[in-house]
Amino acid sequence: MAERIVVLTGAGISAESGLATFRDPDGVWARHDPAELATPEAFARNPGLVRAFYSARRAACLEARPNAAHAALARLEARWPGDVLLVTQNVDDLHERAGSRRLIHMHGELLRSRCAACGHAWPDRGPLTDAQRCPACGAAAVRPDVVWFGEIPRRMEEIEAALQACDLFVAIGTSAQVWPAAGFVAQARAAGARTLELNLEPSAAAQMFDELRQGPATRLVPAWVAELLDG
Ligand code: APR
Repeated sequence: MAERIVVLTGAGISAESGLATFRDPDGVWARHDPAELATPEAFARNPGLVRAFYSARRAACLEARPNAAHAALARLEARWPGDVLLVTQNVDDLHERAGSRRLIHMHGELLRSRCAACGHAWPDRGPLTDAQRCPACGAAAVRPDVVWFGEIPRRMEEIEAALQACDLFVAIGTSAQVWPAAGFVAQARAAGARTLELNLEPSAAAQMFDELRQGPATRLVPAWVAELLDG
């Protein structure tokens, strides 16, 4: 029985909650240019445009509800006798709202803001505005507390230690087009873990997985968790 499980999720797990993915044909990057919205340079160039983009995504996140896939992962964490670490690339809070606790947001969190001047970060569910001031230093330099292209993902040492120690690595709803998350399956395999991909279509890393299951997360994830817990 796999004692230690690492689960990696991407935008695909929140798709059935109504939150757009990034690289599907109707995805966020099909409609917007990430270079204009999701880099430090874009924020320096046009902070108002970036704040409006993230304010709209924050509002959509607050409207969304966790789905059966998020709920199944929370049940796995609660019931599995071994360790379950959930690493998400997503900035929404649907995993938390479904009940997951042992969770790392490697790309930051949409419902938090951060001061670009002093680095102070705080929970923030309202719109990001140009007039907003940092509660710590007072600077009008408030940005979303997310990791942009060209910035360093969060808590990578913890993630890499967990990949080295895991017996089972499962990727759910990610296209494996963005690093370092795209390389996690190779690290897990090198450490001797079994690997499973649950995705609507094979990802760019599909050939690295021992097993691929294709379909919507709300069908695949509850079935997989039931196999583990009740199998
Ligand atoms: N169920 C399961 N998988 C799905 C579903 C679904 N209902 N809908 C879409 N998918 C799959 C798609 O087939 C695709 O492989 O989810 C994946 C989504 O891929 P992306 O849109 O590239 O999202 P993600 O892999 O999370 O992107 C990684 O890129 O832009 C950055 O920071 C952003 O965290 C994001 C990172």
